[in-house]
Amino acid sequence: MRPHIICHMLSSVDGKIDGASLKAVTTPVDYEATGTKLEGDAWVCGRTTMEQHFAEDEPFLSASNRPAGPQPVHVARKAKSYAISVDTTGKLRWASGDIDGDHLICIVSERAPDDYLSMLGDTGISYVVAGKSAVDLVKAVNLLGEHFGIRRLLLEGGGHINGAFLQVGLVDEVSLLLVPGIDGRREIPAVFDGMDSARKAAVPLKLKSIERRDKDALWLRYEVVR
Ligand SMILES: NC(=O)c1ccc[n+]([C@@H]2O[C@H](COP(=O)([O-])OP(=O)(O)OC[C@H]3O[C@@H](n4cnc5c(N)ncnc54)[C@H](OP(=O)(O)O)[C@@H]3O)[C@@H](O)[C@H]2O)c1
Repeated sequence: MRPHIICHMLSSVDGKIDGASLKAVTTPVDYEATGTKLEGDAWVCGRTTMEQHFAEDEPFLSASNRPAGPQPVHVARKAKSYAISVDTTGKLRWASGDIDGDHLICIVSERAPDDYLSMLGDTGISYVVAGKSAVDLVKAVNLLGEHFGIRRLLLEGGGHINGAFLQVGLVDEVSLLLVPGIDGRREIPAVFDGMDSARKAAVPLKLKSIERRDKDALWLRYEVVR
């Protein structure tokens, strides 16, 4: 039932993902163009990325502060393509139920307040509640397949949500647009970040394809070996 998941990211040669810094060595157009070739019917980002690029500036403030607890999936509408956020406690505020024509689905945990879910419903936004104190990603993506018919999900960062998906075995492919620049700053997340530090072995990958792109970029596609 779960969708096939491809992590699609723009990266410097040292694996850093700060789009603002990478503008010096690439144009975002190629990231979008390669992403389109992956033919996803949905894309998902972590709360920080959504906050920086897509949500309203001010966070949601709960009047009730009452955790919603377990809730059924809310399908505001079905769509051809979906934008999905992963926001454990329901912080992100949204102006509408669409991002650039993609219908918005918010994944939250049972800690999200009940008035947050009401706000989503009133704004025409779909939601999935999965996990008690943290989002249960495996359950959430299964529900996305079951209730929205999502078959091919593009995981588009940032590093911490990518790491969390990879850690629970939810990444099937990696699609990396490697651009000719070095960032080098410690505080900038890597393509996959925040994984369990007890891990001692790299996750093995098998090369699927490699393509030279404009401005000395390389588009690398790998399958995750299980
Ligand atoms: N180069 C690229 O292709 C690309 C693409 C996307 C983003 N970016 C950049 O990446 C940066 C942000 O990356 P980031 O790693 O700091 O943040 P992120 O991955 O976008 O978001 C992390 C947040 O997601 C929420 N989350 C919910 N469930 C989670 C789980 N199971 N595991 C981990 N996080 C979970 C957490 O916030 P809560 O606990 O509040 O829910 C967490 O702090 C930005 O600079 C952005 O521009 C680059």
